[in-house]
Amino acid sequence: MRKTLFSIALLMALLAASLIPPGRDIRAQETPTLRIGLLPILDVLPFYVAEQAGYFADEGVQVELVPVSSALERDQLIIAGEIDGMVNDLISTGIFNQDEPLVQIVALARRAYPDHPQFRILAAPRSNITLPGDLTNVEIGISENSVIHYITQRILEAEGVNAADLKFRAEPNIAIRFQLLMEGQLQAACLPDPLAQAAMVGGAILIADDTSLVEQQFSQSVLSFRTEIIEKQPQAVEGFLRAWMRAAEDINAEPDAYRDLWLEKTNVPDSVKDTYNLPPFPTYEITTQAAWDDTIAWLVEQDIVDNAAAYEDSVNPTFLAAIAPAEPTGDAAQGEALFASLGCIGCHSLDGTPGAGPSVAGIASRAGNTVAGQSAADYLRQAIVQPAAYVVEGYGPIMPAFDTLSESDLASLVAYLLTLE
Ligand code: HEC
Repeated sequence: MRKTLFSIALLMALLAASLIPPGRDIRAQETPTLRIGLLPILDVLPFYVAEQAGYFADEGVQVELVPVSSALERDQLIIAGEIDGMVNDLISTGIFNQDEPLVQIVALARRAYPDHPQFRILAAPRSNITLPGDLTNVEIGISENSVIHYITQRILEAEGVNAADLKFRAEPNIAIRFQLLMEGQLQAACLPDPLAQAAMVGGAILIADDTSLVEQQFSQSVLSFRTEIIEKQPQAVEGFLRAWMRAAEDINAEPDAYRDLWLEKTNVPDSVKDTYNLPPFPTYEITTQAAWDDTIAWLVEQDIVDNAAAYEDSVNPTFLAAIAPAEPTGDAAQGEALFASLGCIGCHSLDGTPGAGPSVAGIASRAGNTVAGQSAADYLRQAIVQPAAYVVEGYGPIMPAFDTLSESDLASLVAYLLTLE
């Protein structure tokens, strides 16, 4: 009897609950809204593509894109908890996390590729400065203590310039920095693309760019969320990330289809709006330990932070691991045997000596940086099946296409090549 009464009461309660109109609060609990702060820059294009295509809705996540006008405004909104996620960079993340992990990186948002620099160092039009070495003791316009500051130093160091010989001038407002450079009031400056390309159209001289640092991945923008959101709403973050990856893949497949959206949502100088080629966006990639450590070492060395934030606390690969498409599992030992039995070894040495084809020594380390937008595995796969698609410089297109291999043999060859670091 008691039991029945209890069940009836429960039933009534359930009924009552289901009759409550779906008010704002209840909905919000079911599908929390992720608020993302976005600067009007190229790096944020995939968000707008995902929104327009309805990909966030497909994943059952509500995402509100909140335009911000400066990195400062973005950072203030993150600290106030008014936005949950953002596109930022490693310098910004290292500063946020110096005392405790306030934010976590869940994926790369953008990076430099061999044909698509993210940052360029330029000299003023008609300047006598033409080489990196000419920049010693010349004021270079940057935004102080930012990624621009860091990357300018790293680019020039890679060109053999001594960091001690560099002189910087803080011009944090990027539009003003651009203007001063074009008017010759600044002899040199570091600017991101597409603004840097607009400066070149206007006569600025390219001195160096971050394509020399592609392998180290010192240039990158990241997708990050407040750690609290990651802990409380992991499902929403995962759904968000799936939608973002779909959008990035769409752009990579057909960049020009998104040109109008890019022009609408971000600041693009008129002089490059028809000519700038949209770069590929990295998919399923995340900050490496080496890139993180270098950035944090710089922050410490510059005395910008008191504490070095740890990689494990600031970079969270679990979401990518959950959503990354399964790679066909190749067997490296099997691949090694195939490399000999198929005759690859006849043209490709293992010890660095060039033969009819380039040596495969170290191929695992360079394969991901050879063709823009292709991961190491994708590149190797294509190099085997369709060698003419990309012919390595210095060699003729003489490699036969191995396009009748089984999926598993192909995967094994790729797995083997990926062990040759
Ligand atoms: C007749 C010689 C020849 C044979 C056999 C051959 N290749 Fe090649 N391979 C080349 C040449 C030449 C290139 C460089 C030109 C190009 O990219 O097509 C190349 C390029 C490559 C590359 C890209 C290398 C780089 O540095 O980016 C890979 C990977 C590769 N081959 C794998 C293989 C595998 C695996 C096999 C066996 C299944 C194989 N090759 C068989 C001649 C050969």
